[in-house]
Amino acid sequence: MNGVTGRMGTNQHLVRSILAIRDEGGVRTADGRTILPEPVLVGRNPEKLKALDAEYGPLRWTTDLDAALADASLPVYFDSLSTSLRPACVRKAIAAGKHVYCEKPTATTSDEAYALYALARDAGVKHGVVQDKLWLPGLVKLKRLIDGGFFGRILSVRGEFGYWVFTGDAPARPPQRPSWNYRAEEGGSLLVDMFCHWRYVFDNLFGPVRSVACLGTTHIPERCDEAGRPYACTADDAAYAIFEVGDDGVVVQMNSSWCTRVRRDDLLVLQVDGTQGSAVAGLRDCRIQTLADTPRPVWNPDVPNPVDFWEGWDLVDTDAAYENAFKAQWELFLRHVAADEPFPWTLLEGAKGVQLAEVGRQAWHERRWLDVPDLAP
Ligand SMILES: NC(=O)c1ccc[n+]([C@@H]2O[C@H](COP(=O)([O-])OP(=O)(O)OC[C@H]3O[C@@H](n4cnc5c(N)ncnc54)[C@H](O)[C@@H]3O)[C@@H](O)[C@H]2O)c1
Repeated sequence: MNGVTGRMGTNQHLVRSILAIRDEGGVRTADGRTILPEPVLVGRNPEKLKALDAEYGPLRWTTDLDAALADASLPVYFDSLSTSLRPACVRKAIAAGKHVYCEKPTATTSDEAYALYALARDAGVKHGVVQDKLWLPGLVKLKRLIDGGFFGRILSVRGEFGYWVFTGDAPARPPQRPSWNYRAEEGGSLLVDMFCHWRYVFDNLFGPVRSVACLGTTHIPERCDEAGRPYACTADDAAYAIFEVGDDGVVVQMNSSWCTRVRRDDLLVLQVDGTQGSAVAGLRDCRIQTLADTPRPVWNPDVPNPVDFWEGWDLVDTDAAYENAFKAQWELFLRHVAADEPFPWTLLEGAKGVQLAEVGRQAWHERRWLDVPDLAP
């Protein structure tokens, strides 16, 4: 596990996924076997690795990636390094014959992301990319509604993602995201960060993304970094996009912003409108309104509206229990590696995410609609 001293590596992948799986006694495969993952932590800084060992150990760790890759007893390479460092390490791992699982974006350009896929495919190793949003309870519930035909014909989707990220200019309100997120030269960009997610969310829920129009912007030109020093924001902090999705041309409007205040059910909300009903999915909950329950509003601003539009929606699947989204996908990947169970969330799907970010950015800069070309499997 390389990059495991980072925010995602420690919290989501090591503690809440791999160690949680070990605490539960491992993952059961369909043919009745148990997989017990034994992580080896890889990093630059021995002190940080020792600290993880002390807190969660005993854990094996090393600062020598090449030695770990040369160890034939270790079948899987996992990568949650900073994005720009990922391709070189993934290439090495594939060359060493390891199965590869990694964070998104898989690379900083779609050419490089696709090249990683082609390498893994040609080497015959198994590969996967983190697509955690697919296992958010709210989106699992939404997918179940779609598969069950709840919506009739899906017409459109309106998505709102975002919250206010403090600018760091007041000590009492420190920024809750790292400063590199706002520096293009360090790989920052809300558009790149979120379009990698939106690609697999839309592809899996509504059908393949066909085209995109987009306006990105940097609403706040200066922020203060972790040390309180002002810096110029060179990366976008909001992206307003429209996508055409699937064979029926579902229209998806998606606002993504780190400069907005929340008055909605959750930090991510997708409203899906269909001929037979609508749903509003957040991170955990999903609410529906059927055609039969749909109110008949009449436009009359001269009197208070008699309809409370927040009423008339029902929560679905309230008693189901859900795993941490990262852990749920880890279990599937481990079963894919050990028991050959299906795992469609491959490096090709990861490359599609990077591609959508690239085409979205191009559409913004050229101020026009662009089609999203197919990537050959
Ligand atoms: N799936 C998601 O929802 C999600 C959310 C946030 C971040 N991410 C992705 O996860 C990855 C890591 O993000 P993070 O927020 O954990 O970042 P982070 O900065 O906390 O961690 C980065 C890791 O890379 C290591 N690293 C950085 N520079 C290095 C160098 N020169 N040599 C060796 N190691 C180096 C760090 O030590 C650390 O372990 C990024 O690619 C990011 O896009 C995914």
